[in-house]
Amino acid sequence: MSTTPVQHGDEPGANQAFPLLYNLVYCSKATAGVDKAAVDRIIDVSRRDNPERGITGLLVFGSGIFFQWLEGPRHNVTELMSKLKSDARHDGVVVFSENEEVRERLFPDWDMELVTTDDIRDVLSDALDTAEDPHNVTALASLLEELDSGRLSGLGAAAS
Ligand SMILES: Cc1cc2nc3c(=O)[nH]c(=O)nc-3n(C[C@H](O)[C@H](O)[C@H](O)COP(=O)(O)O)c2cc1C
Repeated sequence: MSTTPVQHGDEPGANQAFPLLYNLVYCSKATAGVDKAAVDRIIDVSRRDNPERGITGLLVFGSGIFFQWLEGPRHNVTELMSKLKSDARHDGVVVFSENEEVRERLFPDWDMELVTTDDIRDVLSDALDTAEDPHNVTALASLLEELDSGRLSGLGAAAS
């Protein structure tokens, strides 16, 4: 009995079908007054505009900190990032990693998924565990230190 192999884009060996993806990960601090409703508005705009730019990703918001994973074509991601850096709803943007490679998307179905967590500490310490770039290790360690000091707790905390 023979079966006809069907090549799906997410199967090993189908790499040629994967796009050249630019991936950027950063953290920032929400500015005063940025609450869950403001974050919901960011998500609405992202879901409206990201699909036409081929951008997918994940936005974590917790304890006054944003953590965003962006993936898509290089030009579109860097263009969005320069817009993001001047967005008054956050500051202290620290870029953890930027790279470009041919691979499948990590979050193909997420135009921008909001992950609200009171325990962003886990997200940051997992990132610290796997960080290789010394700049990222330092940046993550200082964010964790700031988080532990309690200085961030009053900023933009998600409404519970
Ligand atoms: C933490 C954070 C994440 C954001 N993520 C996105 C995003 O993924 N896509 C997007 O279009 N806008 C995002 N925005 C909003 C943009 O900064 C900008 O307000 C939006 O793209 C509308 O820009 P425009 O007024 O020039 O059209 C984000 C803003 C913040 C503060």
